[in-house]
Amino acid sequence: MSFPKGFLWGGATAANQYEGGYLSGGKGLAVADTLTGGDGIHGIPRKFIVEMPDGTRREIGNRDEVPAGAKAIVDPDTYYPSHEATDFYHHWKEDIALFAEMGCNVYRLSINWTRIFPNGDDETPNEEGLQFYEDVFKECHKYGIEPLVTIYHFDMPLHLANEYDGMVSRHTLEAFKRYVEVIFKRYKGLVHYWLTINEININTNFMMNGVHEHISNKQNAEQCRWHLFVASAYAVKIGHEIDPTNKIGLMIAHGASYPYSCNPEDVWAELTGAHDQKWFYGDVLVRGYYPAWKVKALERAGITIQKEEGEDELLKEGVVDFYSFSYYSSQVFAAHPEEHGVSEGNQTMGVKNPYLKASEWGWTVDPLGLRINLNQIWDRYQIPMMVVENGLGAIDKVEADGSIHDDYRINYMRDHIKVMKDAVEIDGVDLMGYTPWGHIDLVSAGTGEMRKRYGFIYVDRDDEGNGNFARSKKDSFFYMQKVYKSNGEDLD
Ligand code: BG6
Repeated sequence: MSFPKGFLWGGATAANQYEGGYLSGGKGLAVADTLTGGDGIHGIPRKFIVEMPDGTRREIGNRDEVPAGAKAIVDPDTYYPSHEATDFYHHWKEDIALFAEMGCNVYRLSINWTRIFPNGDDETPNEEGLQFYEDVFKECHKYGIEPLVTIYHFDMPLHLANEYDGMVSRHTLEAFKRYVEVIFKRYKGLVHYWLTINEININTNFMMNGVHEHISNKQNAEQCRWHLFVASAYAVKIGHEIDPTNKIGLMIAHGASYPYSCNPEDVWAELTGAHDQKWFYGDVLVRGYYPAWKVKALERAGITIQKEEGEDELLKEGVVDFYSFSYYSSQVFAAHPEEHGVSEGNQTMGVKNPYLKASEWGWTVDPLGLRINLNQIWDRYQIPMMVVENGLGAIDKVEADGSIHDDYRINYMRDHIKVMKDAVEIDGVDLMGYTPWGHIDLVSAGTGEMRKRYGFIYVDRDDEGNGNFARSKKDSFFYMQKVYKSNGEDLD
């Protein structure tokens, strides 16, 4: 037997892509609520409609920089896919029953900060929001499902983004601290597994997370990173204080990375690229301090991070219990990337890998890369790991009888679970769980599309907002059920 007894098998979602009910139950607006749909295949970006300080309106792409002072707004004439998303808000009982039927013993979901504090920095929390998640967690436990809760998953309160530039400001950090304290206290005994900040390594790259000038203003970006690290460390520390049985992990977008060739210059490009994009974040959150190369880089750039007394120590006190990451694809670094074609990926780009095929959205499919990752992370940190996102975004066809034959997704899942099994059985890594992404269809974070589906459970909803939210099981549902119920032994 390879996967240990009690291995956590489940699925993963995020509030802003799944819940809908964007103003229900006293919820306030998050930046994600102001992000429109897009089209990843034809390259039409998601955008924000913003109001400039002089009152004029502009449209700004998700990957672009939003000028300081611009405020994102909800435009009544624009369609926002996340406003209803796939409506967990009104289907949670039905959905949790389906997760249980699939064999899940864990369910990763995020708490939407703006359900608890509608503006992010309100005096008192919103009881209706707190009760909503309490009911959800209790329902999970009815079926023996452990909730795995992401504290912050791309849903910066709009008020904090517009007025305080998100996590660039200490005001937002202080508001976050109050939010985490409230949820740790309220859900004590109901939630034992937590993740602090989703994909902390890409958080500063997008306005979605509230930072306006994040590309041109390096001081802003680094200050924001510091606040995110302090926020994460605070959550771990207070979470342990409130309930010492809490297990709290980080969350990093951690694709595998390779040098383009054995030319030492390509190898160096990979080493520095991976340092910058992944290991920096892991090192800080697992070890509790900035690596030397980063300290030197900040000095050379003339960037001085504004720290409060005790924060260096807090980073050490708030190191995580386990290393959890999203894995979709791998990335290739080259010393001269312009000589090779560009490849898409989970918020990251690299040069094309001639050995690998890619999804319809251009993300390379690389199961072995996951085994490489698990080995590298285990070698480096020696703490338990969890794969908290993995999956294939694809267009599904509903047959006349309502069935969905998603063999492509089954193949992807089988290949990735097989390498996890090898990593546990042969390489001896300590892997504690697996929560594939979007095990029920939801809105894509990168493109805002519905047709980019990851689910084993189909939801009747399209890119124009048509559909009645009916749930149905794809072929992959039955495959995953077989895998989960056999504790990962039956993979054929
Ligand atoms: C990760 C995020 O980046 O990848 C999720 O944590 C996201 O929120 C997932 O949905 C897949 O990306 P996309 O762009 O296909 O939705």
